[in-house]
Amino acid sequence: MRPQLGVAYYPEQWPRERWPVDARLMAEAGLSVVRIGEFAWVDLEPAAGTFEFSWLDDAIEILAANQLAVMLGTPTAAPPAWLIEAHPEILPRRADGHVHPFGHRRHYCPNQPAMQEAARRIVGALGDRYGGDTRVTSWQIDNELMGRCVCDVCRARFHDWLRERYGSIEALNESWGTAFWSQRYDDFAQIPTPVLGQIPMPGGFMAASPNPSLALDFRRFTSDSHISFLRLQTDELRARITADQRITHNLMGFRFSEIDYHRLATEIDVVSWDNYPSLDRSARWSSPALAADAMRGLKNQPVWIVEQQVGPLGWEILHTPRRGQIRLYTLQAIAHGAELVGYFRWRTARHGTEQHWYGVLDAHGRVGHRYRELVELSKELDAIGDVLAEASVVSPAALLHDYDSRFALQVQPTNPSLAYEETVQRHYEALRTLGVGVDVIAPDTDLTSYRLVIAPNLYVVDDALVAALRAYVEDGGTLVLAPRAGVKDRCNVVPELPFPTLLAGLAGVEVADVASLLDDDPVRISGVDGAPDGEFRGWFEQIEPKGAHVLALYAEGDFAETPAITAHSVGGGRVVYIAGAADPATLRRVYATLAPDAGVSTVDLPEGVECVQLRGEAPLLMLLNHADGERVVALGDAKRDLITGVEHAESVRLAPFGVALLVPVRAAVESA
Ligand code: GLA
Ligand code: ZN
Repeated sequence: MRPQLGVAYYPEQWPRERWPVDARLMAEAGLSVVRIGEFAWVDLEPAAGTFEFSWLDDAIEILAANQLAVMLGTPTAAPPAWLIEAHPEILPRRADGHVHPFGHRRHYCPNQPAMQEAARRIVGALGDRYGGDTRVTSWQIDNELMGRCVCDVCRARFHDWLRERYGSIEALNESWGTAFWSQRYDDFAQIPTPVLGQIPMPGGFMAASPNPSLALDFRRFTSDSHISFLRLQTDELRARITADQRITHNLMGFRFSEIDYHRLATEIDVVSWDNYPSLDRSARWSSPALAADAMRGLKNQPVWIVEQQVGPLGWEILHTPRRGQIRLYTLQAIAHGAELVGYFRWRTARHGTEQHWYGVLDAHGRVGHRYRELVELSKELDAIGDVLAEASVVSPAALLHDYDSRFALQVQPTNPSLAYEETVQRHYEALRTLGVGVDVIAPDTDLTSYRLVIAPNLYVVDDALVAALRAYVEDGGTLVLAPRAGVKDRCNVVPELPFPTLLAGLAGVEVADVASLLDDDPVRISGVDGAPDGEFRGWFEQIEPKGAHVLALYAEGDFAETPAITAHSVGGGRVVYIAGAADPATLRRVYATLAPDAGVSTVDLPEGVECVQLRGEAPLLMLLNHADGERVVALGDAKRDLITGVEHAESVRLAPFGVALLVPVRAAVESA
């Protein structure tokens, strides 16, 4: 089957007479999946225990009559006023004491018993009615789980969570080091919820958390609370639905960092995510690409996009995509592993908070250019046929994505240049601009298929992880470590070893000193024996080789003439240690030599062009021009563009925001 297109639809927000028109227009545009129901709690259960399903029956029937499969959302992200009136304790309390009021959405604490009971009731009722209904092919739990609550119930559940993790209060005291500032506890009940965030202080800020171990555990607990709330719903559904009705949840890509998505993904059948490339003003093409690879990496399976930007968007301020970008983002998402791309939303809202989130249709409901673009795109996907759905991304490289490190660095950001998300994206971008495919994976993933593994910011480590990395390197792999590595154990405590502690033996270096500068001035490094020059900014480590050899030296500053990048041979492979926060151009130069050394070929790409290598029956190459100007890409051999049917002998010319899907001419002939 070709990749599917779909749309998010809110029939309850539009007159009943309009639904058949919408369904027909959707079908005519080549859409095949429609997500409904996700915020419709008050229309489904207008009073406690009183259900109103007839409108939903109608909507499902009208969609089904137009060959549109239904993804049914559970409506728990929008608890109705009657529920909050009866149980005001459901409203979540933020760390600063503020209670999130009714009048928006996500105004619930996932641990509150009244919320859990109400969620079970509505989800169970939906399951009773539509479990096994072949028109409903999938279920989405809630919507974009997030939010931290520090209410009394959360605090009590946190104590239970800690009791389970540590067994005894003595063990907790020992692990957290509560001799510091007289924080020793006699009982779990004494443990506070941390004040999260940062308290401004003269000369900077102070992490407001009383103890980094407490703060890390509370982040894990919050993540687990959302996952438990999701599981409460999947349990209700699984008892009532059939196995071919697949359960999903819509995640928020790579940059969202409150929930351990690796753990969440184990609870659902398919990972879905929401892709709004032009929402983030600092976004670049690697942003949706990294998000897509990170989401695919959660289960190492194709994903669904259930909210794909379809037009202008924003909360108060409006961001408008350029003509051609919606198609570009859709094809990018498909290349990176989406088998369904559902647009958000069908029709621009007339009412409510989201009047700036433009749908396929404008608020007036007439067909316009965005609708016509989707019609064209559907035709293109029809013409391409199955090849894309049958192909998967070729990734010789992997980036380790570690939530413990991420959470722990949120507690102590250390230096802006070490920001987890930005650091990962820089390494990712350096590789991707060289045409290297990258999987973004959990640290416990089997690494044997990768030539190159990059672990930037591997801040939290344990023996098992270090052993797995060692086995990978001994077996011939190349591992890249970039600061700050091996700083903490799983309790967010500093091991009694020189940095990078448990990783020092593998890296063949020890950190003798560090420098954390806030002026953002670059410090030059110079390559040794033909290795590239470059620049670090913000974070610098002075390292002493303990078996590693030097690839680059600091050219200036306090650490001048000492090693800045090293390589350590271990078994058949090697470990590269980058001792400072390298800027993007430096990383690109470093990987331009490291990748070929590791047996990974690179491609020379014009600025703004993304190249995704895929393998199905034949090797495929998708070239995406993210630039607002023509680009010419040189080709190694003659290739045919499956979108236009045109053959290109030596090079292909891409229009601004244009895309080519290339197959070698020989392979095309063979498979014809
Ligand atoms: C999120 C939500 C949607 C919608 C969009 C756009 O991704 O999941 O319900 O609010 O943002 O606003
Ligand atoms: Zn709570």
